[in-house]
Amino acid sequence: MRIGFFDSGIGGMTVLHQALKYLPNDDYIYYADTLHVPYGEKTKKEVREYIFNAVDFMAEQGIKALVIACNTATSIAVDDLRKKYNFPILGIEPAVKPAVQLCEGKRKKVLVLATNLTLREEKFQNLVKSIDHHDIVESLPLPGLVQFAEDFEFRDEKVVPYLKEKLSSFDLKQYGTIVLGCTHFPYFENSFKRIFPEEVDIISGGIGTAKNLKRILEARNQINDGAGDILFFKSGYKVKDKETLSIYKKLLVMLDGISSLTVGS
Ligand code: SIN
Repeated sequence: MRIGFFDSGIGGMTVLHQALKYLPNDDYIYYADTLHVPYGEKTKKEVREYIFNAVDFMAEQGIKALVIACNTATSIAVDDLRKKYNFPILGIEPAVKPAVQLCEGKRKKVLVLATNLTLREEKFQNLVKSIDHHDIVESLPLPGLVQFAEDFEFRDEKVVPYLKEKLSSFDLKQYGTIVLGCTHFPYFENSFKRIFPEEVDIISGGIGTAKNLKRILEARNQINDGAGDILFFKSGYKVKDKETLSIYKKLLVMLDGISSLTVGS
């Protein structure tokens, strides 16, 4: 059976890319809910319905595990999804804990970047409350980055001015770590590096999720010795057109150039 990866769009590929390093011989289904992206700007009720429809569809295909490779979807649905399905379900959370640990003793702050919905959610608020004992965690929604990614717009000349504008009221020297709390954001790591001081750590949770996935499948004796084949679906339809498939493959290759992400939670 295949491993399922789910996201509102192409963000989850930043996590799939990590999984392919740890489980290169497994086969995958990647499901992008492109009809409803962006999730981060919609209501919780709407997004929950989209997620359950998508996961029902993936379950029908037969999957041995599911990675909710979307921070927004994880924050609003992962617990309830686990109650409904029998296969293991992994989510992805903003890597706040390792970020706070990295900043401890440095007198620096943590900046969590995510979608509006993720940052508003109780799951995130509780996570911060349980870890941020010295009040060093701040956050900022960056919905524009989701749109840039979905438009395959990765050029610095477009992205950097957006980031500068959003961060214009922040004193960037105060931050020791930025947390990419949306799976769409690692595509823009190089743009972040152009804006933040060199010593700032940039972290995301993708590597941690990939390692966990491997651990779980090993424990269940379910690691495949296959071809590393990936089937792509968009909101219930199998992607067959060669142009889109070739863009998806290029994105995975492009992610090879993004290597400095520190291990997340
Ligand atoms: C979005 O669809 O708004 C992005 C979802 C995410 O990765 O948090």
